[in-house]
Amino acid sequence: MARHIFQEAADAPDGRRIAAAALRNAGPLIEALRTRLPAQGRVLEVASGTGQHAVAFAEAFPALDWVPSDIDPGQRGSIEAWRRASGAANFAAPLAIDIAAPWPVETGSAQAVLAVNLLHLIPESALAPLFEGARAALGAGGRAIVYGPFLRAAGYASDGDRDFDAVLRARDPSIGYKSLEAVSGAAASAGFDPVAIDAMPANNLLLTFAAS
Ligand SMILES: C[S@@+](CC[C@H](N)C(=O)[O-])C[C@H]1O[C@@H](n2cnc3c(N)ncnc32)[C@H](O)[C@@H]1O
Repeated sequence: MARHIFQEAADAPDGRRIAAAALRNAGPLIEALRTRLPAQGRVLEVASGTGQHAVAFAEAFPALDWVPSDIDPGQRGSIEAWRRASGAANFAAPLAIDIAAPWPVETGSAQAVLAVNLLHLIPESALAPLFEGARAALGAGGRAIVYGPFLRAAGYASDGDRDFDAVLRARDPSIGYKSLEAVSGAAASAGFDPVAIDAMPANNLLLTFAAS
């Protein structure tokens, strides 16, 4: 399956952006997250993008408080438009979070931190602040969950993954697929233990870590 570097999004008149990729993977993500998210509490989603996932997740997990965020003001406008259209009581207004800068979040205030389709778009040096930010936002036992395409010990999962990573690195040599080893190492250094690696459609993985 062809992968896309950035979200191809269309604007609805009310400001909601629609990205085809987010429509495709919302269902499988919800099913996988059922076994990985806590039963209740606050989930801080970083890099929420258009907000399509956030609204789908908030509606699928009514016992969780869903707090979306993004670095990009345009994406935050779209998240807010999805929030208004949804009216879900557990769907908070989007926060402005750059995962590589200090997070405007109270220490220990979340039970899970989720990052979907972000890690291949950030430099490897941003893995440490991502997991350190997540660890500070979580209490002991809280979960950091990341989803996307990764480089496995055996290499790329497919030729399409190899091609997509090459396209990413041609655009910006500092970004691209992260190895499972690099991700696990950054998570361990920030105080996380590995919990699970779930295989997802289109060669993606859902990695779950628990704060020690
Ligand atoms: C490919 S989109 C994924 C959006 C959404 N999670 C999804 O899967 O539909 C990547 C998102 O990461 C955000 N992003 C990029 N760098 C970031 C950073 N340093 N901190 C927080 N968000 C970032 C972008 O603004 C964009 O919305």
